[in-house]
Amino acid sequence: MTKHNLAQALKVLLADSYALYLKTHNYHWNVEGKRFVELHTFFEVQYTELAMAVDAIAETIRMLGEKAPGSFRKYMELTSIKDGDESASACQMVSDLAADQGLVMNSIEAALKIAKELEDEATIGLLAERLAVHRKAEWMLRSSATGCEK
Ligand SMILES: [Fe+2]
Repeated sequence: MTKHNLAQALKVLLADSYALYLKTHNYHWNVEGKRFVELHTFFEVQYTELAMAVDAIAETIRMLGEKAPGSFRKYMELTSIKDGDESASACQMVSDLAADQGLVMNSIEAALKIAKELEDEATIGLLAERLAVHRKAEWMLRSSATGCEK
């Protein structure tokens, strides 16, 4: 494995994080129902955190000597996260975002494996931090979806 392999894995993570940022923002705008205030605020906390994270991930790609992708076209090629559905129910939005947190964690684990092989401590640190954030977000979303009427 080389620095290039690590940069590639981070590009996927950047695209996933940006896609999840946009989708979480979409759901912040469009969620409806009895839990509006709670979920509108909950989603805001998560998209705000993601907005900061994409910068750190992109800058790490630059430090590895590669250009950071920064267009929706490139993100669509790289990410496995599907666009949000503005008309989804509040419950569907919560379950959808919980599943997406799992997809991002898969990308982090793939990048982490390469960073460990390269003994790149700084990137290992960033990825461990991202893993902790997404693990907590997934738990919060899953807990929030429990008992949710469809
Ligand atoms: Fe807002």
